[in-house]
Amino acid sequence: MRSRRFVTTLFLAAALLGAGPLAAQTVKVGFLTTYSGPGAAQGDQLDKGAKLYLKLNSGKLPKGVKIDLISRDDTGANPDVAKRIVQELIVRDKVQLLTGFVWTPNAAAIAPLTAEAKVPYISMNAAGVNILNLSPYMARVSFTLWQSVYPLGQWAAKRFKRAYITVSDFAPGHEAQEAFTKGFTDGGGEIIDAVRIPLANPDFVPYMQRVKDSKPDVLFAFNPAGKQATAMMKAYSDLGLHKAGIKYIGPGDITTDEELQGMGDAALGVMTVHHYSAFADRPANKAFVAAYKKEYGEKLNPGFMAVGAWDAMDVIFSVIRAQKGKLDPDKTMDLIKQYKNPNSPRGPIAIDPDTRDIVQNEYLREVRKVGGQLANVELETLATQIKDPWKEFNKKK
Ligand code: PHB
Repeated sequence: MRSRRFVTTLFLAAALLGAGPLAAQTVKVGFLTTYSGPGAAQGDQLDKGAKLYLKLNSGKLPKGVKIDLISRDDTGANPDVAKRIVQELIVRDKVQLLTGFVWTPNAAAIAPLTAEAKVPYISMNAAGVNILNLSPYMARVSFTLWQSVYPLGQWAAKRFKRAYITVSDFAPGHEAQEAFTKGFTDGGGEIIDAVRIPLANPDFVPYMQRVKDSKPDVLFAFNPAGKQATAMMKAYSDLGLHKAGIKYIGPGDITTDEELQGMGDAALGVMTVHHYSAFADRPANKAFVAAYKKEYGEKLNPGFMAVGAWDAMDVIFSVIRAQKGKLDPDKTMDLIKQYKNPNSPRGPIAIDPDTRDIVQNEYLREVRKVGGQLANVELETLATQIKDPWKEFNKKK
């Protein structure tokens, strides 16, 4: 009896002093990204964006509240690995939030776990259009392929007659193909062929030869950002497609900012639609790019995945602040549904409360040289505050 009172007194004293483990509220966040294998460049973007946000904003958490970011390597698009790690994060580490995720197959595999354990998930990248329908505890700050590619297809139909499509053979690639086909053919264009290229270890050269032989006006392509984007640009250039006058277009993944300098002059004139360019002159973007370069080196540009990570951390900070560090999963989801940021590096963003998906601008860009560097130069806002078009087309009546 006596000793119990003594212990209680000690706890109270510690709480009053605002010190020690009792006063500190630690929010555990499971962070799954790709640190090894061929997708490590993409995973690195998530890591850099998330850690930069944490470093610059840790003073903006409520007093005594800390974030414990528990980082894990999914080794690439490996749903079984992702599932095992997320199970461990939930059961052993008792994470209260999940974030990261470059890859759609991984996010789809762990969706049921977020629902069973009620652990809110915020996607920094995984873009598959159907993921959020798999669990009410999932939300996304990245994009869907429909969001960029459908407006691109409509735009392209006004300029080109015959298009050839090549996409990576996994869900986001299939969605890019469907979105482009709808936008382009509704506008009167013709798809002369559509080819799906394996996601793992692709050799783009034979595919580019077939494109060249088919003599389309335009090649629409999607492959995951990172090293594949550079390899694809190299094949397009080596086989002389640009010299043959075949225009190269796609979502911003094909000219992703962190890889662009290595793509060479064949990238000049490539037109893309996307939500983020490191060269956009919005003040919030200039500040973000300056901070990124200061942290990681002058030569490195942040790509859209780094911005996805930055914005996801901003969502996480806002739900922690609103709940003063004591997270309830349902309250967290309600807060995420109301999230808005007029000042993301990519421009204004919001979460659509009906779908938990991102609402954002999509910009038409052209690769040009700016101050001696290749740059995705934003030419116009092709779609303002666009919701995922696929969900709009497939709304339950
Ligand atoms: C995805 O798996 O959702 C994904 C991966 C890489 C991209 C885009 C989407 O560039």
